[in-house]
Amino acid sequence: MTGAGADSLRTALVRQLTANGTIHDGRIAAAFEAVPRHLFVPQVPLELAYADDVVPMKQDRAGVLTSSVSQPSIIALMLQQAAIRPGDRVLEIGSGGYNAALLRELAGPGGAVTTVDIDADVTRRARVSLDQAGYGDVAVVQADGEFGDPERAPYDRIVVTVTAWEVAPAWVRQLRPGGRIVVPLRLRGQTRAVAFDLVGEHLESRSTTMCGFVSMQGVGAHYERYEDGLTYDEDQEDEPRPKGDVLELRRERRWSGLQVHREELLLDLYLWLATTLPGYCVLDRDGEAAVATADSLAYLSRRRGRDASHVELGCSGHGPGARVLIDRVVEQMRRWDGKHPTFQVHALGAELPRGFHIARRHSYITVQWEA
Ligand SMILES: C[S@@+](CC[C@H](N)C(=O)[O-])C[C@H]1O[C@@H](n2cnc3c(N)ncnc32)[C@H](O)[C@@H]1O
Repeated sequence: MTGAGADSLRTALVRQLTANGTIHDGRIAAAFEAVPRHLFVPQVPLELAYADDVVPMKQDRAGVLTSSVSQPSIIALMLQQAAIRPGDRVLEIGSGGYNAALLRELAGPGGAVTTVDIDADVTRRARVSLDQAGYGDVAVVQADGEFGDPERAPYDRIVVTVTAWEVAPAWVRQLRPGGRIVVPLRLRGQTRAVAFDLVGEHLESRSTTMCGFVSMQGVGAHYERYEDGLTYDEDQEDEPRPKGDVLELRRERRWSGLQVHREELLLDLYLWLATTLPGYCVLDRDGEAAVATADSLAYLSRRRGRDASHVELGCSGHGPGARVLIDRVVEQMRRWDGKHPTFQVHALGAELPRGFHIARRHSYITVQWEA
């Protein structure tokens, strides 16, 4: 297909993302119109280059995806969160070239963009594609992004496009006062892109969106703990957990009366349970939110709700303490009442605000709840 074919596919993609409400900022639409995405994914047909889908680029020996050119709608949502202004100095962690070109469009002639990737294959390819597409002044650096890029710091904006366990201290150090960082944070089995503003010495969240990215490699790599069919974060070593296969024991169940739309993402409810009940974990088999004690396990269940588009939430459990645990979970589900989380990040040793504190290697992530 010709360049004209690529142009019309690109226009169609921008129309689609605008019509479904993903893009609501004219500058972002213009950037998507300007950047020839197909040059960054030359191995796939034009139709796939301009589909709203991720394009896988590299796998490790075990077949795990380690690099991709991200899905346009996720990129658009994160760019809106980042609110890049003309003249901004921007650092991207995790390169593919495509998002760096969009950032370059948004930062304009007075701005600057640096993109860092740990993988030399990725930076080599990004350099070639950026040059071909006319973005030769984007700096492409091969390094562990955990350390940012001190050479070109400070930055007004940092956009992380790889799943991180915490906000690396170097990113905070390299951010200008009042600067913003958007980072996909992995927390209690879920990933959200959080936009944080630097306020004094700490970070305060301004918005969050759901997303999925490949995991960070290098010094900042992290591991979830898988034990007896349950997944925990690294810091949850002391949580109680039942021995053996408690799921084999007789099932108890209680329905809550809580009705939610079938399509509704319940990640806020899950995080609410994670930050208000001890023993929170995630079932490996289906990613369902669960709560464990030393002898029992309870997890969320759903059944048809008041109509075909709603489901009723409930809780199922196994083990000698299942009934008590189920009652506790259902009561806590009812207390959630649609509240949304906000996040703060403080360095270890700093004074912490009220809220639920999640310990990471270099920082605390504090979760607070708003009606
Ligand atoms: C989803 S891809 C980035 C997509 C890209 N921003 C785009 O334009 O679509 C994530 C990238 O992060 C890189 N990565 C993983 N760990 C990293 C680290 N510690 N520092 C820098 N890059 C890292 C991977 O090599 C991979 O290329």
